[in-house]
Amino acid sequence: MIKVAPSILSADFSKLGAEVEDIRLGGADYVHFDVMDGRFVPNISIGIPVLKSLRKATDMFIDAHLMIVEPIRYAEAFCQAGADLVNVHVEADGEENTLAAIDTIKTLEKKAGITLKPGTPAEAALPFIDKVDLILVMTVEPGFGGQSFMHDMLPKIAAIRGYIDKINPLCELEVDGGIDAHTSALVKEAGANVLVAGSAVFKAADRAAAIRDIRNA
Ligand code: DX5
Ligand code: ZN
Repeated sequence: MIKVAPSILSADFSKLGAEVEDIRLGGADYVHFDVMDGRFVPNISIGIPVLKSLRKATDMFIDAHLMIVEPIRYAEAFCQAGADLVNVHVEADGEENTLAAIDTIKTLEKKAGITLKPGTPAEAALPFIDKVDLILVMTVEPGFGGQSFMHDMLPKIAAIRGYIDKINPLCELEVDGGIDAHTSALVKEAGANVLVAGSAVFKAADRAAAIRDIRNA
């Protein structure tokens, strides 16, 4: 099943509750919540207090994408603030701490994910595949919305789809960055099933149509 996860990075934060209700009514499956610390990526976005407020405003599944160094420091806090899935970058710490972060998230009965930056090879997912609920392949350099889709990530998506089918078939495969009604067809063909889209949804005149087009392209 294809899921669409609008990224609120492109939403109007002055009315975040209404923005999220709008995409819920528009048929979105997940809310993608981008956390940036100004160190792991060259930008700062939103964090725990905003997540707590959003949790009160919606029942939607919140997919928290932590673009922060040493995410183990905050894994528990993001679970407690109301994330349904907490996703950590494999480049953000050593393997042992990444495994410990996944363990913390699972112990708190939340879903756990790992993310790979564009320069990180598919094999970097291998130590974690049997332990996570979702793998995110970045299709832009993380840090900013509105960038162009990197077509050279398609073989990596296909490689990870191959690993997932073999090792953990229930694991979801998410893509993030430059996804619109055109690029969504390519990533689905390569094996992705959760499609993050920021500007293509929130900047669209008709968000429901944008979500539908991304899902059905
Ligand atoms: C980028 C973020 C993305 C971003 C996607 O670092 O992780 O979730 O919001 O934005 P678009 O869809 O505009 O590329
Ligand atoms: Zn993201």
